[in-house]
Amino acid sequence: MAFVRNHAAAIVFFFFLQVTTYANAHGKKSEEKEGVYGAAAAVAAGPGGSFDITKLGAVGNGRTDSTIAVMEAWKSACGGAGKQTIVIPKGDFLTGALDLRGPCNGAVTVQLDGNLLGSNDLSKYAGKRMPNWIEFRKVDNLVISGKGKLDGQGPGVWSKNSCSKNYNCKLLPNTLVLNTVNNGLVAGITLLNAKFFHMNIYRCKDVTIRGVTITAPEESPNTDGIHIGDSSKINIADTIIGTGDDCISIGPGSDKINITGVTCGPGHGISIGSLGRYKDERDVMDVTVNRCVLRKTTNGLRIKSYEDAVSPVTVSKVAFENVVMDNVANPIIIDQKYCPNSICTSKGDSKVSVKDVTFKNITGTSATPEAVQLLCSDKLPCSGVAMHDVRVKYGGSDKKTMAVCDNAQGKATGCLKELACL
Ligand SMILES: *[C@@H]1O[C@H](CO)[C@@H](O)[C@H](O)[C@H]1NC(C)=O
Ligand SMILES: *[C@@H]1O[C@H](CO)[C@@H](O)[C@H](O)[C@H]1NC(C)=O
Repeated sequence: MAFVRNHAAAIVFFFFLQVTTYANAHGKKSEEKEGVYGAAAAVAAGPGGSFDITKLGAVGNGRTDSTIAVMEAWKSACGGAGKQTIVIPKGDFLTGALDLRGPCNGAVTVQLDGNLLGSNDLSKYAGKRMPNWIEFRKVDNLVISGKGKLDGQGPGVWSKNSCSKNYNCKLLPNTLVLNTVNNGLVAGITLLNAKFFHMNIYRCKDVTIRGVTITAPEESPNTDGIHIGDSSKINIADTIIGTGDDCISIGPGSDKINITGVTCGPGHGISIGSLGRYKDERDVMDVTVNRCVLRKTTNGLRIKSYEDAVSPVTVSKVAFENVVMDNVANPIIIDQKYCPNSICTSKGDSKVSVKDVTFKNITGTSATPEAVQLLCSDKLPCSGVAMHDVRVKYGGSDKKTMAVCDNAQGKATGCLKELACL
């Protein structure tokens, strides 16, 4: 996805909206059900507590809106001390926007045994430039785990996405947003058919995503798997992602990102960028992608920055290692001249520096002859690019495997001889 960023102003606006909406909804509901909530609160009076959403009015029939019950559970769990657990038991629970805000008093675990379904009534996510379905904000020590699903029900709304035609399109809701989360774990769950991005990790630190499955059809619009921005120490391990857009995209302000054991496909691959679209973006550094497999994706390992970047930004210390390509269209690509839909206003004047990038032990097949493309700008060449044991072969027989390299400086050792362009 080319143009995403988080809009602080929109988030603040969203905050006020949500406070009013929930204050109203909640005020009414808690009068009706005071007994139930009182009992739940009493159970949680000591350190530690557990809140089953079905005991707070949620109905797992896939139709009844259970938003208020989940918000009640959140309020109690986040307000309690010690280890607090929200239990989503087996069943299909429909909800609208879940604005799950901290800071919390203790550590909250969301135990996802059943499924949450995102309502297709878009007015339930109303009024925001960047709408979200489930957003955790300012929460430390958060765990989301279980074998359940977050089902975005995207097929019902994807036709309303006009972003490929319209630059200022209305965005559909992201499924799971971690916004300002320190020390988080997302483990075991499945994210299915997001309306827009499946996961957005923004302003987070020390977050691990492990054993997660993310699935949407190849043709679904902007259904990126995991987007990371303005975050540090993010680990993604043993995760399977197949979507209609980037499996993982690493945006501005990301550092110490560690991606291991990810299988990607279908999708647009693992990407750093796009960079340079917005003013004063922060640098990207210390990114490792290790032991990953890319299957039938349009890109493999990619760094992309806008040709007409508005302010300087640097990508450095990136290591792509032990990656297998299976019929990938652009297996290795650095593109400093990225300009989707020809929206760039100036040419060849990149302000995005790319340096110290290693590709090591990259094997398998390419769906196009150009297995390696290093397309750097003449004004700001890529520097410190190293290719070791890069052996990706064109899978077809009509043409020879080749590398296209412009303005890239560095060295190549042990590579397929057609690819040793440095
Ligand atoms: C990256 O993740 C892998 C797998 O989870 C782990 O073994 C490795 O130590 C991590 N590396 C860093 C630098 O955190
Ligand atoms: C190269 O990468 C593959 C796939 O991850 C791995 O199985 C193999 O052991 C690696 N080879 C070396 C020499 O590290």
